[in-house]
Amino acid sequence: MKIRSCSFEVAAYRPQDYPRAPGPDVVFMGRSNVGKSSMINRLLGAKGLARTSSQPGRTQSVNFYRVNDCCWFVDLPGYGYAKAPEEVRRSWKPMVEGFLDARRERIALALLVVDARHDASPLDKTMLEWLEDKEIPFVIAATKSDKLSGNGRARAAAQLRRELGDDLLLVSAQSGLGTKDIWSRLDRCLAGARESKKDQSWTSKN
Ligand code: GTP
Ligand code: MG
Repeated sequence: MKIRSCSFEVAAYRPQDYPRAPGPDVVFMGRSNVGKSSMINRLLGAKGLARTSSQPGRTQSVNFYRVNDCCWFVDLPGYGYAKAPEEVRRSWKPMVEGFLDARRERIALALLVVDARHDASPLDKTMLEWLEDKEIPFVIAATKSDKLSGNGRARAAAQLRRELGDDLLLVSAQSGLGTKDIWSRLDRCLAGARESKKDQSWTSKN
């Protein structure tokens, strides 16, 4: 998909705040500080659109970005940030699970973002189970792979595939590695959403 426009729409804390306008969702979920917001910026070619930070816990709401007036990129708050205030930790689960339940039918693809340099965490595995249970289409995006050498990348991918399953792409928001692979998957999933005509907002220009 050629990006003609993208903009921040809303930071939602409750389902009532989600955008009402139709269009499929592309969802980014994963550990705090893993690089979800950076991946959104890289895929959209829009530096600084989603706010990023070297401090974990930057994204604490469900943030919607409107892309080409036809689909939504959704940045979910990260998990596993031990120093998050108690209130933030308590609100995370209902916020994310509430989102997945409310928008399940709309989700064209969820990207479960993990750090290519580390083993999957128990919370990553829990997320995977949620996605499988709710029958949400997903792919694992192992990011920050620019920090690994060629051999290291192959080893890391093999290890993560053992832990999380075969459907894994090595990517980097910094170097752009794997961006094309993600886009070809996304294009297929968005075309599938359009074909299923679940969503009437699609027009031939998209
Ligand atoms: P939360 O909003 O806290 O959940 O974090 P996030 O997952 O959105 O992470 P964010 O995109 O803010 O990135 C966290 C840090 O990792 C920032 O300092 C980024 O510059 C860095 N980063 C993200 N992606 C990459 C990557 O592919 N390679 C490298 N080297 N650094 C990256
Ligand atoms: Mg973020």
